[in-house]
Amino acid sequence: RPRILSGMQPTSDSLHLGNYLGALVNWVGLQEDFDAYYFVADLHALTVPTDPADITRRSRVTAAQYIAGGVDPERSAIFCQSHVREHTELMWVLACQTAFGEASRMTQFKDKTAKGLGANVGLFTYPILMAADILIYDAARVPVGDDQRQHLEITRDLAERFNARFGDTLVVPEPHILKESARIMDLQEPTGKMSKSSSSDKGLISLLDDPKRIVKKIRSAVTDVDGEIRYDVDAKPGVSNLLSIHSALSGTSIADLETHFAGQGYGALKQEVADVVVSAIEPYQRRMDELMSDPAELDSILAKGAARAAEVASATRDRVYERVGLLAPR
Ligand code: TYM
Repeated sequence: RPRILSGMQPTSDSLHLGNYLGALVNWVGLQEDFDAYYFVADLHALTVPTDPADITRRSRVTAAQYIAGGVDPERSAIFCQSHVREHTELMWVLACQTAFGEASRMTQFKDKTAKGLGANVGLFTYPILMAADILIYDAARVPVGDDQRQHLEITRDLAERFNARFGDTLVVPEPHILKESARIMDLQEPTGKMSKSSSSDKGLISLLDDPKRIVKKIRSAVTDVDGEIRYDVDAKPGVSNLLSIHSALSGTSIADLETHFAGQGYGALKQEVADVVVSAIEPYQRRMDELMSDPAELDSILAKGAARAAEVASATRDRVYERVGLLAPR
């Protein structure tokens, strides 16, 4: 089976609805047809100064959320990035193939430094580590939300460049980005994406929020004054976002939802969206409680996942080291 890979940063105590619909739901679907590797991007999380205890706790929580969302640890490898050293080993080789100007143009780094937020060298090299995460597994596809598109492009560029210079070595990956759920927007500011770093509490649905709070947040989501339930991202970003959320969770197409809601008000739309979100989240939260009550079991899943990942990763690392001319250790 072809391989896929994806990861999330352990930068918060819960994933949010954007992570869930933009990425996790697709991860679950894809593990049927692909040999899947899903990791906690703990090394990436170090690019922002964080309390060590937070990183530790959030790494377990993030892994548990993959499982609560439906990733099957028997079938797919779940592990921490820092447990598979080949990610950073490949990163160094790729860094030596990356132009300084090319890395400087990456928007994540540009945005942070433009805002005057002090950036470290780790943030500068973030996309190169991400490229290594993907290329070390020969991943054919990478299921992510729309905000990762630029990172996928530089990954493809680096793989192609490496192959052109050293001969066919790395698989050039395809992004797997689903149109309707690729960009879940902030409920209060629906022209910006739902984000753990920039959304307000009211604008963001955390998967571990109390269901009553979720209902309240959806009821007070910003819409517009024209009163018609219709999908039009530019003219009606708030209503369109609610339709996207409904559609991604209920599996009903946007067109069918528009017909279904014809002549109804925003109150009805919000009520149904709240219902579909809460009914997805309740079993998820129950599963999270179980998983978090047994950290030893979780750590053993992560250890098994890392061992499985390292088998693939070490073979790629050896191939790459040989290609660039490093003397094989004996
Ligand atoms: P992160 O941790 O910011 O986000 C995890 C996943 O959630 C998606 N996502 C969204 N999708 C739709 N709507 C939103 N509002 C929304 N917000 C977040 C993201 O696109 C992502 O798929 N750089 C990555 C982590 C990473 C990675 C990798 C991913 C490191 N190495 C290798 C794939 C492959 C990140 O910061 O994701």
